[in-house]
Amino acid sequence: MFGRRRKAIARGETVYLFAPTKDATEDFLTLTAGSRNFHNPWVYPPADARHFRAYLERLANGFAHGFFIARREDDSLVGVININDPIMGGFKSASLGYYAAASYCGRGYMTEGLALVLDQAFTVLDFHRLEANVQPDNAASLALVRRLGFRKEGFSPAFLKVGGEWRDHERWAMLSEEWLAAHALDQPEEAKAPAHHVSQVV
Ligand SMILES: CC(C)(COP(=O)(O)OP(=O)(O)OC[C@H]1O[C@@H](n2cnc3c(N)ncnc32)[C@H](O)[C@@H]1OP(=O)(O)O)[C@@H](O)C(=O)NCCC(=O)NCCS
Repeated sequence: MFGRRRKAIARGETVYLFAPTKDATEDFLTLTAGSRNFHNPWVYPPADARHFRAYLERLANGFAHGFFIARREDDSLVGVININDPIMGGFKSASLGYYAAASYCGRGYMTEGLALVLDQAFTVLDFHRLEANVQPDNAASLALVRRLGFRKEGFSPAFLKVGGEWRDHERWAMLSEEWLAAHALDQPEEAKAPAHHVSQVV
């Protein structure tokens, strides 16, 4: 545990975001080892130190933005969210990847963590659109994107190779104007969309 040395990127009521670094190797591998049956066949995160290093290199080289989610009360690592394959220029678009620790799922931490990441993406990182591509049978992930107000754009057969197989995906998306209209910090309280929000950005 190295909570006291972490620099929070943003804080919510129950969780905060921090940047993935090699200091978190042990916590990360504990999360993925303990969640394998929960993650597959939806996601296949790094399962050993070599793949975790490759993930950090991918972040360092700008192929993704990574966010670790920790619980405020005890600094436990509860989930991971990545903004993958950013394309800026005329697109300012990217796709989300995320997974919770099995032992911390179902408590709202990912909902709050993803809201914090959306805030970062649309106010700090200058994205215009984020997509979440979800396999049709992944009820928990579909519930998460619905809860945060993502819009269903369609269905793409054999869209993404996951776990060695081309899998169908529902295509969900959020635009910056949609997120900011619902969550702008300067709106009067009664004008804001309910719930799941957010934080001081630190
Ligand atoms: C997808 C995934 C990240 C969703 O995580 P989650 O644990 O369901 O999300 P949360 O932590 O926000 O918890 C939501 C649940 O907590 C409940 N909850 C409790 N307090 C809450 C709060 N304050 N705010 C929101 N939800 C709250 C919700 O009602 C919901 O429970 P329900 O599904 O029974 O309605 C998780 O299921 C996962 O890691 N799955 C495997 C990997 C995966 O599928 N990744 C996505 C690939 S597209």
